[in-house]
Amino acid sequence: QYPGYAPTPPMGWNDWSYYQCGENEQNVLANARALVSSGLAAKGYDTVTIDDCWMAADRDSAGNLVPDPTTFPDGMAYVGRRLHSMGLKFGIYEDAGTSTCGGYPGSEDHWTQDADLFASWGVDYVKLDGCNVPTPAGENDEQAYHATYAAMSQALLHSGRKMVFSISAPAYFEGTSAWDSVIGWSAQLGNLWREGDDIALGQESGAAKWSSIMDNYGYNVGLADLQAPGRWNDPDFLLAGDSGLSQDEIQSQVSLWAMMAAPLISSTDLTKASAGALAALGNKDVIAVDQDPLGLQGRIVAQGAGYDVLSKPLTGGDRAVALFNSSDSAQTVTVSAATAGLAEGSSFELENLVTKAVTQTTGTISADVPPHATVIYRVSPGGDRKVQPATAITWQDVST
Ligand code: GLA
Ligand code: GLA
Repeated sequence: QYPGYAPTPPMGWNDWSYYQCGENEQNVLANARALVSSGLAAKGYDTVTIDDCWMAADRDSAGNLVPDPTTFPDGMAYVGRRLHSMGLKFGIYEDAGTSTCGGYPGSEDHWTQDADLFASWGVDYVKLDGCNVPTPAGENDEQAYHATYAAMSQALLHSGRKMVFSISAPAYFEGTSAWDSVIGWSAQLGNLWREGDDIALGQESGAAKWSSIMDNYGYNVGLADLQAPGRWNDPDFLLAGDSGLSQDEIQSQVSLWAMMAAPLISSTDLTKASAGALAALGNKDVIAVDQDPLGLQGRIVAQGAGYDVLSKPLTGGDRAVALFNSSDSAQTVTVSAATAGLAEGSSFELENLVTKAVTQTTGTISADVPPHATVIYRVSPGGDRKVQPATAITWQDVST
């Protein structure tokens, strides 16, 4: 099994959803500085990944990948040094096929050469996509994918540098009978894996973004059995900061991703992100649910018309419980403590991780939830903490 280089879900930033092929040294480093100045880096968002289209059209005469001389004129070792000097980690995109999804040179048959080149650039995280993988046995040739991803896994392992390995193979088998099997070997060969459709792009409408968040939540939430501590399902980027989403929708995505122990990877222009978006991304208590050392993905424990209740076990006997209203009208969502996985008859303290209000209950967990919103609680046994009334808060308050 590939080493457990990601004991908790990876966190950071990736250029793809916002910039697509428009990323360059300036906007990548500007977002890196914003990670640091906003305080998000200190809260764990530490890996900056340069996605597709960073390369020149061809390898050099020695067969090495070459950064695009116009957009990355100082080269990738330089970008790596700049990121490391800010205390950040350096992630890069490649592809397991003959070319990337954007048409740039893929790693096929260059596994060792590319892994060693990334190591020499100081790369800490490799996202290996799965476009254009030759599939001699037909479109759903699982063995072809397995062989290519195993080759890169070995090459990274022998590069001499610790690099988190993000696999995209399962995304190419979504909806096929091989999906679970591909996820199974991805968890052996790497640390995290994309298993389904891409989240919406930055320029799409708010409605399209919300619908893609629901789609990705939908395919990811049932996969808790295929996850283990240090091996993560990846439902793709957080869109907080992008135009078109409401604050409730932004908060829901971050909260649901945290409940699913998903990687928290922002993909927006952080230099322009609203205070509300930065607060949702930077909510330390929600991040702690995601990064909980127990390392388990939460599950749906109750469902009704337009709502889901999720529960995630945390270290020390606490649980995170999320009441998600997926409908277009406000509703009260209620679950019994027993259904949420808590011992019957005990007394519990509930901390609302967004408003910070603390209440107590013995029997039920309940909240009035606005449309598309998620109320996320940390539930602790006992009631020794002082109960505090809910107070009006501003987004600036919760970001600190
Ligand atoms: C695929 C991936 C995206 C992004 C693009 C780049 O669509 O799923 O996350 O990396 O390729 O071309
Ligand atoms: C796209 C464009 C960016 C920016 C965003 C806005 O991603 O490539 O330059 O305009 O949309 O969301």
